[in-house]
Amino acid sequence: MDNTLTTKFSLNQGWLTEKDAVVFGVFEGEEIPCGLGFKKETAEKEAELLFPIFSKIKRYFAHKDFSGKLGKVAVIYPENVLYKRVILCGLGKKEELDAEKLRQVASQAIAAAEATDAAKISFTLFGSPLQRAEDRLRYIFEGAVLTLYKFNAYKSKGAEKESGAKITEVEFLLPEIIEADEVSAWQKQLERNVTIAEAVYFARNIVNQPSSVVTPQFLAETAEALAKQYPGISVRVMRKTELKDRGMNGILTVGGGSDKEPVLITLEYSPASASEKTVALVGKGVCFDSGGLSLKSAENMMEMKMDMAGAAAVMGAIVTAARLQLPVKVSAVIPAVENVPSPTAYKPGDIITSASGKTIEVLNTDAEGRIILADALHYAAAELKPTYVIDLATLTYACELALGNHYAGLLGNNDELLGLITEASERTGEKVWLFPFDDCYKKQIESDVADVKNIGGKTAGVITSSLFLKEFVGEHKGYAHIDIAGTAILSEKNHYRPKGGSGFGVRLLVDFLEHLGGVSEAIKAE
Ligand code: BES
Ligand code: MN
Ligand code: ZN
Repeated sequence: MDNTLTTKFSLNQGWLTEKDAVVFGVFEGEEIPCGLGFKKETAEKEAELLFPIFSKIKRYFAHKDFSGKLGKVAVIYPENVLYKRVILCGLGKKEELDAEKLRQVASQAIAAAEATDAAKISFTLFGSPLQRAEDRLRYIFEGAVLTLYKFNAYKSKGAEKESGAKITEVEFLLPEIIEADEVSAWQKQLERNVTIAEAVYFARNIVNQPSSVVTPQFLAETAEALAKQYPGISVRVMRKTELKDRGMNGILTVGGGSDKEPVLITLEYSPASASEKTVALVGKGVCFDSGGLSLKSAENMMEMKMDMAGAAAVMGAIVTAARLQLPVKVSAVIPAVENVPSPTAYKPGDIITSASGKTIEVLNTDAEGRIILADALHYAAAELKPTYVIDLATLTYACELALGNHYAGLLGNNDELLGLITEASERTGEKVWLFPFDDCYKKQIESDVADVKNIGGKTAGVITSSLFLKEFVGEHKGYAHIDIAGTAILSEKNHYRPKGGSGFGVRLLVDFLEHLGGVSEAIKAE
């Protein structure tokens, strides 16, 4: 799988070159685009070039064909200028424009450009005066790159296969008259953004690939390839014998119905100089979730190749941490299995002794994620002993019912950690919603015959599933769980998130790691 971006991104200055299409942002009622920048030496000439476009835009306003309302887009074809097309994007009211709206506007601009024959497009860094120009670059880039993503690995030929390759270059026009020595800092920013986008593409690609390709073995090989490719990352794959020796019966039992052997993958990124705080990211890696003997309905099973989205996100995040050389020690722990019925599959009524020693009564083989995570979380918390343990899992349908496809569920036992995740969420637009992590719900997972049972009844499914997980984190006091069941895969496109795998969690985790201890060089340069 190739996750490098097919579109080339660059920075540029000045208006004296030809452009296939240039994107302008206009606030409601302002009539003049914002965020334009000129090159010091040629500013006058450039303004002269833009002037005829401004008067044309004014006519759009005069005829009320365009008002600058958020979400409105118009493509205009100016005459006698170097630019074939101008894509006008409404930014809405100045005081209401925020990061997420900017991503969405950039996404609309890409959609409009894709409808034309433009191969090379230029973005001006429009945005609110309250946003720093570097942040505008970040948000517009994110909206654009995440919209340009296409998954057409299995389209044999024809127009659809080619779609998306059409826009080959995107340039960002630096907004202010900046000095030559500032350009390298901007370049670094752009490179950071590209690196993160590649990780989102990586996560989306893995989620979108069928389960016939993305098996536990495939995830293990992918992890091994990443460790080879990126300095600072090491990998360890535990297979059947080692899992047995370690008493990881949760992973072995859930994976026992499949001919594809279960594995526990651990990636580790150790920078030469690291902050005190260390992080273990745990990602649910159920390569296919049929429900097992508690079989899902055909309809509910349809999307279940996505049940390893947590694994994909934590892999994307740790690779990015290494590529950006973040000064934080990070581990990624991935229990990978396939949950299918067969004569060797586990059964309702079975009792499993997990790696922690705690016993689990299985009452529904479709609540399999929490069982494999029990072993993985115990390993992460008790053996790796990081400051923080964060798991990402497509854990419950209850979460999707509660929050739909916009917010992931967040629960945890450490206010500082929850605060850090929430802040990262606000910066990235990967939204999280805090649920109570309250032991008063624990009664629902008490078992008559074992320490816990794997289902918690009809109500409060997000909470009872996470309290189940908490049992295996033991005494660790820095734990957070993120339920991405509703956000990992979308049944229809939502702005810059396409139909299918969304890559949710990658940007959230990277941003969290960037702000944890010390900051990366790119951020420092801001
Ligand atoms: N992978 C599913 C959760 C899921 C459902 C993710 C829909 C995305 C969309 C999980 O393994 C599961 O089946 N959970 C059950 C648990 C129940 C049996 C207690 C669920 O939520 O229905
Ligand atoms: Mn399930
Ligand atoms: Zn599942």
